[in-house]
Amino acid sequence: MSMVRLAPSILAADFARLGQPVAEAAEAGGDRIHVDVMDRHFVPNRSMGAVVVQSLRRVTHLPLEIHLMISDPDLCFEEFVAAGSDSFLAHWEGNTTLHRPVQQIRTLGKRAGVAINPATSAAVLEEIVQDVDQVLVMTVNPGFRHQQFVRTTLPKIGRVRELIECGQPECEVEVDGGIDAGTAPLVVRAGATVLVAGSAIFGDPRGVTAAMEGLRTALNQVEDGTELVERPALQRSQ
Ligand code: DX5
Ligand code: ZN
Repeated sequence: MSMVRLAPSILAADFARLGQPVAEAAEAGGDRIHVDVMDRHFVPNRSMGAVVVQSLRRVTHLPLEIHLMISDPDLCFEEFVAAGSDSFLAHWEGNTTLHRPVQQIRTLGKRAGVAINPATSAAVLEEIVQDVDQVLVMTVNPGFRHQQFVRTTLPKIGRVRELIECGQPECEVEVDGGIDAGTAPLVVRAGATVLVAGSAIFGDPRGVTAAMEGLRTALNQVEDGTELVERPALQRSQ
């Protein structure tokens, strides 16, 4: 059984009936529910707010992880905590005083993480990694579901892993964007321990349970050493 954790992202689910797919994802072994919050300012898209978290809290016991793609994340923590959120991911980009939101999250007794975009170097994490529980390496540019995986993030995942092992070994390395049964083995081999997946779980025509099983099978093959390795892609990116 793979120790890698799966975080289904509801951005790819049917918003008219969120409860059922979320319950299915929990039943199928989801570790946490990933909630993408966007303000059409930090990213060119708008999504959901604390009211959705409040509704989700009634239908699942899984931790609710809030990915904040908004300007001024400091202003929203209390509202999201009151709604039932368990952890927050704030972006390094645009947050010149990143320790402030991290400290606020900690003061509220929740888990704190920092997210970096594909074009942002792992090196920016050096001064913050000791203070967070999670690093989120974006494997697409934030803002939309079902985008193409950015392969140049693979070696960066390894660099993040190294930084964490030096300063904060308990910290999780999470990836988000374009994760499916093909890319999941690549990111795990690179050092990721938590995989966010939206379209590959909630957009799979076979259904949520079959989709999660497909991802788990691909991950188990990494651990068994039996997965089919995309050699040319790996050679390019390592
Ligand atoms: C993108 C979001 C992701 C998104 C991933 O900005 O942060 O969490 O839901 O969707 P997929 O897995 O479809 O790329
Ligand atoms: Zn996300």
